[in-house]
Amino acid sequence: MKAKEEWIEVATDALTKAYVPYSHFPVGACLVTKQGKVYQGLNIENASYGLANCAERTAFFKAVSEGERGFSHLVVAGNTPEPISPCGACRQVMAEFCPPDMPVTLVGKNGVTKEMTVGELLPYSFTDKDFD
Ligand code: THU
Repeated sequence: MKAKEEWIEVATDALTKAYVPYSHFPVGACLVTKQGKVYQGLNIENASYGLANCAERTAFFKAVSEGERGFSHLVVAGNTPEPISPCGACRQVMAEFCPPDMPVTLVGKNGVTKEMTVGELLPYSFTDKDFD
């Protein structure tokens, strides 16, 4: 199986583990490091709704808290008719840790996919270069 297919499986598998008792909208993520290590993420909700943590940010925070800094690919999966669209907060976190040309594979129901980059998802982003 090709690497990307495996990453899509990791992201899709996360849909079954998402903690979504309020929205019933599971999201899964697979974040791949430059060394090829994979971090799985899923959304985690709370009775205090605003505390929900998205799948993408779960994956980033797992990886970064283990010392990872360099990433090469992100897959995001949802049970959506079209490939899922990451929220703005997660796009900002991607822009913090990933180069603009890093590929992001968005996956929907029945395996429909859309290939984008971090820069396409958040053009003209706010970064550390904005406060030199
Ligand atoms: N969600 C994600 O996990 N990632 C996104 O990019 C979009 C939104 C989650 C947050 C919440 O648990 C549910 O989807 C509905 O908004």
